[in-house]
Amino acid sequence: MTDLHQPDARSTARPEPAVLAAFEAATGFMPLDEGLALYAAAVEAAGRTGLPVLEIGTYCGRSAILLADAARRTGTVALTVDHHRGSEEQQPGWEYHDPSLVDPEVGRMDTLPPFRRTLFHAGLEEHVVALVGRSPQIAALWGGRLALVFIDGGHTDEHAGGDYAGWVPHLAEDGLLVVHDVFPDPADGGQAPYRVYLRALAEGFEEVSVTGSLRVLRRTAR
Ligand SMILES: C[S@@+](CC[C@H](N)C(=O)[O-])C[C@H]1O[C@@H](n2cnc3c(N)ncnc32)[C@H](O)[C@@H]1O
Repeated sequence: MTDLHQPDARSTARPEPAVLAAFEAATGFMPLDEGLALYAAAVEAAGRTGLPVLEIGTYCGRSAILLADAARRTGTVALTVDHHRGSEEQQPGWEYHDPSLVDPEVGRMDTLPPFRRTLFHAGLEEHVVALVGRSPQIAALWGGRLALVFIDGGHTDEHAGGDYAGWVPHLAEDGLLVVHDVFPDPADGGQAPYRVYLRALAEGFEEVSVTGSLRVLRRTAR
């Protein structure tokens, strides 16, 4: 029989087909292989520590579906942080802008309603807590320990670096840090998440897995 308390017993966990279908139907940016790596990391870390998992960068809930299902499976909760006004590259005139996500009354992006619809239809609403606001402000108020921190928020040095500085202190001793959009070659994408990844390696994290631009790291020293 599988011992679910062994560190690696859950590391290859996959979501049920209905959850995968909800993920693939959701608006967002994460490819399937990276989503599966995120899911396996979340199930492993939450199952081992019994602590919540947290992401910075909810957007419309695509990756949050997987974290919420990982939380359901391990009896914890997924926390997801976003001001829901979009990152720099999602603003009007930029590459990743989606005009359907602009609130016509205030003239700004608002991804909170699609996020709520996505999690409702996936049947995962009760396994996720949405923290609506700026990542550094929420991190400064936060008091609990976390099994996993997933950085997928703003892609500038200010924002990605702020996410790392704000949330890594809340990570459990043997927790996992996951960073999205890590591109060692500047030709492939912005460098701020890569610099966060390098900082983590320099500050006592070791690499657990590489899937596309997704890096899973484990803390080895404080
Ligand atoms: C790349 S999207 C997240 C994609 C999402 N994880 C997915 O799987 O589709 C980045 C999100 O981070 C949010 N964001 C950027 N900077 C932020 C900050 N400083 N605090 C809170 N949210 C932020 C944006 O509003 C945007 O929704």
